[in-house]
Amino acid sequence: MANLTSPKTGPLRGRLTLPGDKSITHRAVMLSALAEGTSEISGYLASQDCQQTIKAFQAMGISISASTIKGRPCLSIEGKGLEGLTEPRDVLDCGNSGTTMRLLTGLLSGQPFFSVLTGDQSLRTRPMRRIVDPLRMRGADIAGRAEGAQAPLAIVGKRLSAIDYLMPIASAQVKSAILLSGLGSAEATLLREPKASRDHTERMFQEFGLNLEKKKEILTFIGGQPFQAKKIAVPGDLSSASFFLVAGTLIEGSDITLENVGVNPTRTGILDILEQMGAKITLNPKPDAGHEPLADLQVCAHPLRGIEIEGDLILRAIDEFPIVCVAAARAEGRTTIRGAKELRFKESDRIETMAEALRGMGVAVETFPDGIQIEGKTNWKGCTCITGGDHRVAMSMAIAGLLASGGNKIDDVACIDTSYPGFFKDLSKLAEA
Ligand code: S3P
Repeated sequence: MANLTSPKTGPLRGRLTLPGDKSITHRAVMLSALAEGTSEISGYLASQDCQQTIKAFQAMGISISASTIKGRPCLSIEGKGLEGLTEPRDVLDCGNSGTTMRLLTGLLSGQPFFSVLTGDQSLRTRPMRRIVDPLRMRGADIAGRAEGAQAPLAIVGKRLSAIDYLMPIASAQVKSAILLSGLGSAEATLLREPKASRDHTERMFQEFGLNLEKKKEILTFIGGQPFQAKKIAVPGDLSSASFFLVAGTLIEGSDITLENVGVNPTRTGILDILEQMGAKITLNPKPDAGHEPLADLQVCAHPLRGIEIEGDLILRAIDEFPIVCVAAARAEGRTTIRGAKELRFKESDRIETMAEALRGMGVAVETFPDGIQIEGKTNWKGCTCITGGDHRVAMSMAIAGLLASGGNKIDDVACIDTSYPGFFKDLSKLAEA
């Protein structure tokens, strides 16, 4: 566990290309492994979370090699088709990655072999019944701690039956686990979501030419169709960009352009939230990367005001709340976030971790079972921040430290490698420009 005091900085300026999108990288690797032929993925995210997915497929006999082409990290994946995976000889370690564990559980439920998935201390406490229950409904044989509520999960893969499932919660991981469980089977997968969660799996299915339909809010997929390898360009990760969107807004004199960022509408809640708070962000559209929309985002410093955040915005900005809390803590007036109970089940309980961290800087915070209320103020004192090993809390509090007197001491910066290994390098690049 490495700790660090984030240094005070002047304005942030210049251009930055963000690392690749985490959600899209996971999906690109998974589908490439099951495609026929060699897929090339450029701009993939070479972070710990995605590495766990890559290693899992290598352990199932898929050859994956990494290189750098014109400064972009690239993967070459030799897909072996729908029936090409081989039984892993050891437990598959998903590390800190909920996406790896939940999506793989779905995918492996329909593969004809035995597999066991585990993860780090945080992942082993995260809820798994949300995927295990629907997968069992279609005949999946999954055992786990607390009757399948927690990992490790042991899967005896088998032929799965059809499913018509109304999801009780809107979750892209649940939706994707179920869709992936149907990949190898000609039995229908029908899904309805209470609200539209991120749709990267659907777009990646389309990218690989798979026949997925959405009519009247019902997703229908018939699997068992072989598909060919592809060339995929991964957009920059808007979740990673959000740290600089907030830093650029809060630090006087800043002017930053973030290049080629994914702006899938199921993910752009952060842009709407910051705009409502008064931020000055300009979106310049670029040609799409496959089925995913792209844009350059330009941000310059501007004062913020407190707002009320609820409804669809919660789902569309679900991973950005740690940095939204930082923005709120600097805004004029009160910000209230409600309807966000899911934040309690992320890499840490993000409502409590952020509340404690902000209180350490002298900010008045109240928490609710489903949200948080923050009174903005501009004179922050530096604090020691307990991240709970949560990468997004660590980055958010490092950004806050740039404005706190004496800076913030972050107890664990190693966890940042989960999603953004070059975070501090990119921050210094903007600070020095
Ligand atoms: C993700 C879905 C979201 C998100 C997570 C990544 C994905 O989780 O918070 O970081 O890649 O599908 P939920 O499905 O639990 O909302």
